[in-house]
Amino acid sequence: NDKYAVFGNPIKHSKSPQIHSAFAAQTGQQLSYRAHKVDVDKFADAAKSFFDNGGKGLNITVPFKIDAYNFADELSGRARLAGAVNTLALQDDGTVYGDNTDGAGLVRDICENLAWEVTGKRVLLLGAGGAIRGVLEPLMKLNPSQVLIANRTVEKAQQLARDFSEFGSVGACSFEALNANQYDLIINGTSASLAGELPPLPSDALTDEGCCYDMMYSAGPTPFMRWGAENAAWAVSDGLGMLVEQAAESFCIWRGTRPTTREVIDAIREELE
Ligand code: ATR
Repeated sequence: NDKYAVFGNPIKHSKSPQIHSAFAAQTGQQLSYRAHKVDVDKFADAAKSFFDNGGKGLNITVPFKIDAYNFADELSGRARLAGAVNTLALQDDGTVYGDNTDGAGLVRDICENLAWEVTGKRVLLLGAGGAIRGVLEPLMKLNPSQVLIANRTVEKAQQLARDFSEFGSVGACSFEALNANQYDLIINGTSASLAGELPPLPSDALTDEGCCYDMMYSAGPTPFMRWGAENAAWAVSDGLGMLVEQAAESFCIWRGTRPTTREVIDAIREELE
């Protein structure tokens, strides 16, 4: 069987083995997929040894996406823009290709699974770390009328806005400066919800049909989803669909076939609850 794995630290709660096993069963592919906890300073050694021992592809999660970017022999355009790699694939000539499927996963979940409109809409992004950088270009390609990045450290938001200005109208501000404007879609990419926290948002930040998407997921609603519900969001979602969609995109890169995701999302959702 062809060998695949996900490298991260921590890795215990990773859903990736379950997701990829479900994809393999569904598409009739013979493969194994395991989760490996890698020491924080040992990514390159572990990845080299994995590929030297016949491994075909890796998913990369926290905190190794930049290590994986540096490890890849060749990078996709979207990985270069994201500055991070979440998918490594062994190529026929023995070199390793690095890609980033996070943005594609987010866009697929929002546009297809949830069927929320982004084109022509006002989008507010919360956070300016790797999670937001990874999804900016695919989101901007949908031609929202405006993108605003709000971050606790405003300089990081300003830097991101500069880096992506060629893709459309993108601005930056602090949370404190968010007032009196309304957004059709707010996406939370801060790690605040990991600590059960929420960036300070004005209660009138949503339009009548405004939606809230949290890139995190959990058993119950996240703090940001609760904020959306309390402030009359038209719809709210966590990031479980994004997780499964980025995995489907990786699977497609490795195996050349795209699995369907609905039943996998539903199965994991059922287990979470
Ligand atoms: P990731 O790769 O997950 O994006 P990161 O690069 O460390 O991780 O970025 C985390 C993001 O969450 C940043 O935008 C961070 O804000 P700062 O740039 O000001 O550090 C944001 N963040 C983390 N904890 C937060 C909190 N309690 N309130 C608001 N924003 C927070």
